[in-house]
Amino acid sequence: VAGAGNSKLLRVLRGEALEVPPVWMMRQAGRYLPEYRELRARAGSFLDLCYTPELAEEVTLQPIRRFGLDAAILFADILLLPHALGQELSFSEGEGPRLAPVVADRQALGRLRPIDEMRETLAPVYETVRRLARSLPADVPLIGFAGAPWTVASYMVAGQGTADQGPARCWMYRDAEGFERLIELLTEATIVYLAAQIEAGAQAVMLFDSWAGSLPPERFVRYVIEPARRITAALARAWPQVPVIGFPRGAGVMYEVFAHETGMAAVALDTAVPLDWARRALRGVALQGNLDPMVLVTGDPELSRMARRIVEALRGVPHVFNLGHGITPDADPRNVELLLRAVRG
Ligand code: CP3
Repeated sequence: VAGAGNSKLLRVLRGEALEVPPVWMMRQAGRYLPEYRELRARAGSFLDLCYTPELAEEVTLQPIRRFGLDAAILFADILLLPHALGQELSFSEGEGPRLAPVVADRQALGRLRPIDEMRETLAPVYETVRRLARSLPADVPLIGFAGAPWTVASYMVAGQGTADQGPARCWMYRDAEGFERLIELLTEATIVYLAAQIEAGAQAVMLFDSWAGSLPPERFVRYVIEPARRITAALARAWPQVPVIGFPRGAGVMYEVFAHETGMAAVALDTAVPLDWARRALRGVALQGNLDPMVLVTGDPELSRMARRIVEALRGVPHVFNLGHGITPDADPRNVELLLRAVRG
């Protein structure tokens, strides 16, 4: 039977090992595509693109049309959630995101907007999901997403991206109870946000914890594992058939605890994870990953060799082919074609 319920992605996320894995790429819609740059220029800004449903829909569809990938990911950003909670958000060219005022202590929590008022800001995102549920090809499922509480908190506290998440780590050591309130607020907000995406038509969801690797093990359990478990359990109660993919980037050996204790259907592996280890240690979940995105800049012969190695290393286990992190703006779209040929044969 045709349809997204029987799509390759959803079959693998339900635990099936396929001869040829489904393929999609983190950040598959973005600046490496000329058609994206053109639409972004017309939209004015990245945020206008995110909050204009017709444009966000179109940008989501661009890589599907050009390459025939096996899944679409909603075009949005993990920082729309703090924006909806009342922080001002801007993306300035070449400088990355800015959030203001910073939420750096427990007093600042009181200045955030209540969770049930997020919809005012996020309604266009849900409208984008509804449109995509109608316009995507029947066999291409739509993945919704959110940032995980720890990673989102690291931006809210610093007001920008940081190499070491220093401001959030300092708050959590000075005032663990106050910091935990921020993590709990974000856990609740993320459940509401992902639930609304599923209601609007997302068929799987992914939780991006890009900075999971900067926490010591006991804090990793409190701020990465616990929120992920609560989010997955809350969604599973209402939508047991909707798989959740977790991406605790940089988790190292903690990937094992993450895979076994969060209830995720799949874990996304960063580039540094050895696949023979993952295959043994992470049984019971589907594995997504983990090509170094830089070979999409440099091309063959390494690109095809490494892609085929990943397919072979995960043969016989449920595997979704992906990158170990997002594709970069200097990637060559022709290399994506080479990648698909290497994976699909
Ligand atoms: O993957 C997709 O195609 C879907 C859309 C998506 C974007 N960001 C679009 C985007 C997704 C899933 C994200 C996730 C995201 N955003 C993460 C987690 C994943 C990761 O990469 O670790 C993080 C940490 C962010 C925060 C963020 N957004 C930063 C730090 C930046 C600036 C750096 C950069 O790459 O420009 C963004 C901007 C952003 N988000 C762009 C896109 C396409 C570029 C905006 C532009 O057009 O200038």
